Amino acid sequence: MSHLDIISKVCAAAPVIPILTIDRVEDARPLAQALVAGGLPSLEITLRTEAALDCIAAIADIDGALVGAGTLLTASQVQDAKAAGAVFGVSPGATTSIINAVQKFDLPLLPGSATATEAMRLLEYGFTYQKFFPAEAVGGAAALGSLAGPLPQIIFCPTGGISPENAKSYLALPNILCVGGSWIAPKALISIGDWEQITQRARLAAALLQ
Ligand code: 3PG
Repeated sequence: MSHLDIISKVCAAAPVIPILTIDRVEDARPLAQALVAGGLPSLEITLRTEAALDCIAAIADIDGALVGAGTLLTASQVQDAKAAGAVFGVSPGATTSIINAVQKFDLPLLPGSATATEAMRLLEYGFTYQKFFPAEAVGGAAALGSLAGPLPQIIFCPTGGISPENAKSYLALPNILCVGGSWIAPKALISIGDWEQITQRARLAAALLQ
């Protein structure tokens, strides 16, 4: 599959990509299983904790899961994410070194953009799927609706400030397949291992398009 096909599959799998920040590697498997059981197969593990790469490695083989590495900021993180078993990467913005690294290390990328110029630059590199970040702070669903006019060929995954309350306004737009958010599995629920509650939240998120 091409990078584009993989990112398209990741974004089309469910209306929400949970953004996961995991401190303890032992939490990774039950957490990922809880989310997949709730109907959310695409998972973004942020590289913001010491345990993140080990967490990716621990869940990479879970049946039905599409495991990605988020908060990619450097070329070496791209290399590490690929080595850990990530099938895709997500970056809050995009730099030339990240763009070169995902080609070199063969990691499909959902790169971040927040303006028409950034989105157009990424389009020149062939990125027709982009993360729109930080979504609420840069204009939310209204901004994305405006971008759909001149740039209808770009599918955005908005993240940053998305909640169960505002998710539907994004998902109703023609240029959105899914949103990303940390609300499905907040740190507080992960720390007490409340996997059942997380599956519940995943079910509600998976049903957002129905
Ligand atoms: C990210 O980590 O990409 C987003 O900042 C997540 O945003 P949220 O915590 O507002 O969902």
